Amino acid sequence: MYHPYHAHVEEPEVQKLPNDPILMTSELRNLFFILVYILIDVSLKLFANVTGTLDDHGSCQCSVYLPDTSFPVQKAEQLQVIATTLIQKFETELSQVREYSKRIELYQQQILNITIRVEHMEQSSISYTELDFQLLKVEISDLERLVTQLKSSVVGSNVIIDQIYLEIMNLTILVNELESMDKNNILAIRRQIVSLQNQLRECENSKNITVVPPSFPPGSCIHRGLLNVSQPYVVKLNWKGFSYKYGSWGRDYSPSEPEKEIYWVAPLETNGRYFEYFRIYGSFDDLLLYKTMYERRLRYGEGSGAVLYNNYFYYHVYGSSNIAKYDINANSVVLSKALPSATVGNRFSYAGVSWQDIDFAVDENGLWVIYSTENSMGNIVISKLNETTLDVLNTWQTRQYRPSVSNAFMVCGILYATRILSTRKEEIFYMYDTNTGEEGSVSVIMDKNLETIQSLAYSPADQRLYVYNDGYLVRYDVTFQH
Ligand SMILES: *[C@@H]1O[C@H](CO)[C@@H](O)[C@H](O)[C@H]1NC(C)=O
Ligand SMILES: *[C@@H]1O[C@H](CO)[C@@H](O)[C@H](O)[C@H]1NC(C)=O
Ligand SMILES: *[C@@H]1O[C@H](CO)[C@@H](O)[C@H](O)[C@H]1NC(C)=O
Ligand SMILES: *[C@@H]1O[C@H](CO)[C@@H](O)[C@H](O)[C@H]1NC(C)=O
Ligand SMILES: *[C@@H]1O[C@H](CO)[C@@H](O)[C@H](O)[C@H]1NC(C)=O
Ligand SMILES: *[C@@H]1O[C@H](CO)[C@@H](O)[C@H](O)[C@H]1NC(C)=O
Repeated sequence: MYHPYHAHVEEPEVQKLPNDPILMTSELRNLFFILVYILIDVSLKLFANVTGTLDDHGSCQCSVYLPDTSFPVQKAEQLQVIATTLIQKFETELSQVREYSKRIELYQQQILNITIRVEHMEQSSISYTELDFQLLKVEISDLERLVTQLKSSVVGSNVIIDQIYLEIMNLTILVNELESMDKNNILAIRRQIVSLQNQLRECENSKNITVVPPSFPPGSCIHRGLLNVSQPYVVKLNWKGFSYKYGSWGRDYSPSEPEKEIYWVAPLETNGRYFEYFRIYGSFDDLLLYKTMYERRLRYGEGSGAVLYNNYFYYHVYGSSNIAKYDINANSVVLSKALPSATVGNRFSYAGVSWQDIDFAVDENGLWVIYSTENSMGNIVISKLNETTLDVLNTWQTRQYRPSVSNAFMVCGILYATRILSTRKEEIFYMYDTNTGEEGSVSVIMDKNLETIQSLAYSPADQRLYVYNDGYLVRYDVTFQH
């Protein structure tokens, strides 16, 4: 009679947890109530079947019906013990589930944190080191271990845990990818860039303090000339590595598509004279990730005065006074002709920069070339070129001796020249306005991270200066007067 109840007690498997803690709670609670009810019921039945009668002698007789003697009081006790154990186990399991839920939340939080950091690392170019990767990897493998533990302690599949596990796997892959991408340069960067990082941080902090002057639309010349330049933003090391200290880089300007992002990077060979290969990147992100759109080969370009303008690469042809126009899409030289009277052969190159006798420049008005002639006695000569024919459209003679300036660039028809103040400071000190033929002095200080500015190219597309600074690609924002 009581056997079925007993059997019922043995049945539930307390070791297994259903997926849903709430469902589990109510199931176990019901089971517990049933057990308690059975115990009470049994106790009542044991003593309730008492019938009283009056016999012939007037004495009261009471007979107590004792059911099946094999019914064990011990069994009832056992039942009670089992119920108690069950309830304890249930409590334990429940608190474990609560703890698991908490831990899952914590893990999710940690994964979110790591994800944010990985994203940050993906976006910023130089803020990570090998150590960062190691720390990330340790954290991720810790998480992985914990989740594996969690998985094995909860029997059956659990959607949340599986999800977390997947996310951790994804993170691991991502970190590995990031790390392998950077292997080529990380050591050089670590050695050289710690101080640059600090300066960058300072720059970012100070950015917030300074009031941003009004900006002018790219390509427009409605401002009244250069006002200031920002702190240097170190983008990255050039693609050939730390020992390639000379070269040029910048952003293409296509007047019909000013939004289009194309960058070139042309490191010179380590002799500082010529280059054979240069690379084109289709976006800033690609540049950061060394994801080359294409690599082109020239035989050869001389000096670090090349520019990319409207999808054509303009450069000084090695060992000649020729200038050439190279179609980066068709991968061919479309035009090469002499620049009349230009002196070449490292005769009037810039101070501290060799072989840049012919320096191309691009501004809002088009293509320019900055050089010297024997006639100018080494002073800077500016010519506006027809970019289709490479013919000189107009020429301006300045009174600034070229070998005493460190570099030069054009903005809205105005030439600006720099000079070295110290190993950490450069000054934009001279200007020549081709619109009016007037020259004058300015003073805009350019902080620099390394000593020599090998090339300086302005891009009207984003009004920035692109500087090749001893192998590092550095960028400055330019602000204008209104
Ligand atoms: C009480 O005992 C009598 C026999 O003496 C039995 O017939 C009856 O069913 C019992 N009642 C209960 C409620 O068990
Ligand atoms: C996640 O990052 C925030 C802010 O950096 C921090 O307060 C929190 O403690 C981090 N959480 C974990 C689980 O690491
Ligand atoms: C893992 O990455 C794959 C592919 O990038 C993506 O489809 C999936 O949603 C990611 N899973 C998680 C859990 O983030
Ligand atoms: C910069 O300033 C804005 C607004 O004043 C503020 O919300 C933000 O937290 C600041 N950022 C830093 C890095 O100081
Ligand atoms: C020019 O910019 C630099 C760097 O942001 C800043 O320190 C300096 O105060 C600015 N100079 C002027 C005159 O605004
Ligand atoms: C440049 O040369 C081309 C071809 O001769 C000519 O069509 C164009 O008008 C010239 N551009 C300028 C600005 O002179």
